[in-house]
Amino acid sequence: MAVGIFNLFSKRNSFFQRCKVDEATKLRHKYAPYYDIFDRQEGSRVWLKGKELILLSSNDYLGLSDHPSVIDAGKQALDTWGASSTGARVANGGRAYHRDLEEALAEFLEVEAVHVHAAGYLSCMSAVQSFGQRGDLILVDRNVHSSLWSGIHSCPARVEKFSHNSPGSLKKALSYEEAETPKMLVFEGAYSMEGHIAPVEEFLEAIEGQNTMTIMDDAHGLGVLGVGGRGTAHHLGVNGQVDLICGSLSKSLGSTGGFIGGAQCMIEYMRTHSKQTLFSAALSGVQAACAGEALRVLQTEPQCIARLWRNVKQYREFLLELGLDTWDSVTPAIPIVLGDKRKAYYFRQALLEKGVYTTMAIAPSVPPKKELIRTSISARHTDEDLDQIFEAFKYAVKKVL
Ligand SMILES: Cc1ncc(COP(=O)(O)O)c(C=O)c1O
Repeated sequence: MAVGIFNLFSKRNSFFQRCKVDEATKLRHKYAPYYDIFDRQEGSRVWLKGKELILLSSNDYLGLSDHPSVIDAGKQALDTWGASSTGARVANGGRAYHRDLEEALAEFLEVEAVHVHAAGYLSCMSAVQSFGQRGDLILVDRNVHSSLWSGIHSCPARVEKFSHNSPGSLKKALSYEEAETPKMLVFEGAYSMEGHIAPVEEFLEAIEGQNTMTIMDDAHGLGVLGVGGRGTAHHLGVNGQVDLICGSLSKSLGSTGGFIGGAQCMIEYMRTHSKQTLFSAALSGVQAACAGEALRVLQTEPQCIARLWRNVKQYREFLLELGLDTWDSVTPAIPIVLGDKRKAYYFRQALLEKGVYTTMAIAPSVPPKKELIRTSISARHTDEDLDQIFEAFKYAVKKVL
């Protein structure tokens, strides 16, 4: 009875009808390449409807999400703190685990201060939204992550896009603007879809004397690039020269959550003005403890980073030998550009047939003609995994291309 009444009312509004007829959702259901539910996971293996698959799309670059000491740290935090602090820190107080993780991350990133959020999306969004005011200009690489766009669209600053990873295009955008206008330069350190590293040194040269604050999303650089996994700025020798570094705890640190690091006054300003910080529940003790322990492990067991790069080298060489287009990726996030959504779909299906799970990205989430299979390699992939992955790719190339 209750369900009947609910249906009667919900059919009356246009939103219900819009959802019912939405073409993108129908297409997704027809081809169902997203929202699969795995019944089980063990390391790099997952089970989908009873079939065992190698996960080649996770961002667990160092394989720390099930490291024994990370799991122990999470269990202890659950015993000590319970499941959640059930509120924002301004409303409900912070906890010692917030302070501990923020101090550990600040030391690791070599920044004055860090703030952690319950998701990287919130951190990246607030890194932009909190600071942009009317009259400011945001200069943004057109390929940045949706979280940064959400921050950009929710503040009143003007926006100018520049071509992906192009200091020339950035300079051109700057040439139309007064030098004294307050500006923000927004980019990713290591691009999640393309596997490209930003030319940060050239960007910094371009903005010299231009009253520009820099915001770098290093979700995919942390734990992967630079000495000891300290990230893109360290990798490029520009540490200390980027104003704000934001990112996620859900990639190399194998947990869930996000962070922003920078000068103390900027983090304090963000704490005052960020809606995502003031009005959203804080990171849980379990998430914080797991991320903190993973950060400790990556520093005490550097072999996981070495293993990751060994796997990346083998995997990339193999893909290039097969003649596949990897969009010149230089990081563990390696796209296979197929340039056509049908090909991308069938290629992914062929990999699945041979027990390899990947994700498909089609326009508009990638530029037209760049439809791709997104893959990412992990330190956790074994030699046996890599052999099976190589066989699956040979099969998919033969079957689809
Ligand atoms: C570049 C980039 N920034 C931010 C995020 C958001 O991080 P989270 O998944 O922790 O919300 C992601 C996650 O996909 C990302 O790839």
